[in-house]
Amino acid sequence: MSTAPASIATTSACGKVILLGEHAVVYGVPALCGALSRGAEVRVVPGEGRLSVPAWNLITPTAKELEEGVADSSLAQAYAAILRALPMGLPRPDAFDFVAQFSLPTGAGLGSSAALAVALVRAIGVVGNAGLGRPLSGSEIAAAALAAEQVFHGQPSGLDHTLAQHGGFGLFCRGKGLAPLSLDRARSSVSLCIGHTGRARDTKGRVARVAELYRQDEVAVRQRFDRIAALVERAASAIQRGDLATLGDAMNENQAELACLDVSCPEIETLCDLARQAGALGCKLTGGGGGGCVVALAPGREADVKAAWQRAGFASFQVEVGS
Ligand code: MEV
Repeated sequence: MSTAPASIATTSACGKVILLGEHAVVYGVPALCGALSRGAEVRVVPGEGRLSVPAWNLITPTAKELEEGVADSSLAQAYAAILRALPMGLPRPDAFDFVAQFSLPTGAGLGSSAALAVALVRAIGVVGNAGLGRPLSGSEIAAAALAAEQVFHGQPSGLDHTLAQHGGFGLFCRGKGLAPLSLDRARSSVSLCIGHTGRARDTKGRVARVAELYRQDEVAVRQRFDRIAALVERAASAIQRGDLATLGDAMNENQAELACLDVSCPEIETLCDLARQAGALGCKLTGGGGGGCVVALAPGREADVKAAWQRAGFASFQVEVGS
C-alpha cells in the first residue's frame, strides 16, 4: 500500500472576489474587492524540485530542468518565472516537491492562480530561507508571485496577488495597493453568493478585448471607465454606511458597463437575471469574465438565489467578505 509522503511544511494564500471595478482597474480605476478565506494550499514533501497540481493532473519538470529551459505548460512556465524572480542566494529547491490544492473553484475569476503563486513562493521560501540567511521579504514574495501572474494573465493589475498575499477588504488601485475599508458598525461581514457559469473565465482574452476596444475608441472607453469609477466610489461609500440597496444598484450598473466592454457572456447574463428574479439586490460577473463566476448580493435571500441557480443547473456557494 502506498502512502502519501509526510509534509515538511504547508503554506497557503487567499482567493479574492471583486465587487466592482474589474477591467477598469487595469487602467488605474480603483476596484472594490475582498479576500476570501478559501484559496490555495501548497504542501512541501521530499522530492526533486517539481510542482504538482493533482486537481489539474499536472506535474512540472524539476526546478533544475526549468532552469535549463524545459517548460512544457503554462504551469511550468509560471513556476519557472517564480524561480527566476526569487532573490539570488535562495537555494534551488532540488530536494523538495510542492503539491498544490485548492479550496475554491479554479479558472473561475476567484484568484486561484494568484493564491497558488503566493502559496508556492512561500513554500519555496520555507525550505530556502536558511540558505538565504533570512526570510523572504513581502516585496520579494510579491515580485515572484507577479511574475507567475504575468505568465497566466499577461499584464495584470496586481489586485489578485496583493489580496492573495495580504488578505483584506477595500479599494485596490494599481501601483498603490489596497486601501482598507471598514463596514458599518452593524455588520462584521457582507455575505455574497457566488454562481459558476460552468465555463472557464477568459481573463487574458477579455483583457486583450478591452485593450482592442480602447485602441479603437479611447474616448468612449475612457468615459465608460469614468462611469465605473463613479460606481465604485458610490459602492464604497454605500458599504461603509450599510446601504446594501445602493451597493446592489451599483453592481447592476457595473455589470451593464462590463457587458458593453464585451467581457460578459450568455451564461453570466442568465445567472444575473436569475439572481435578480430571486431577490438579489445586485449581481454581476466577478474577475476576468467571458465565463467564470458571478457575484450576487442578496441579504436574507441567499438561499433563494442559490436554489434558482441550482434549478437552472449552475453550481454555487456563499462567501463572507469584509471581516
Ligand atoms: C482579474 O481578477 C481582474 C481583471 O481586472 C484583471 C486584472 O485586474 O489584472 C480583469
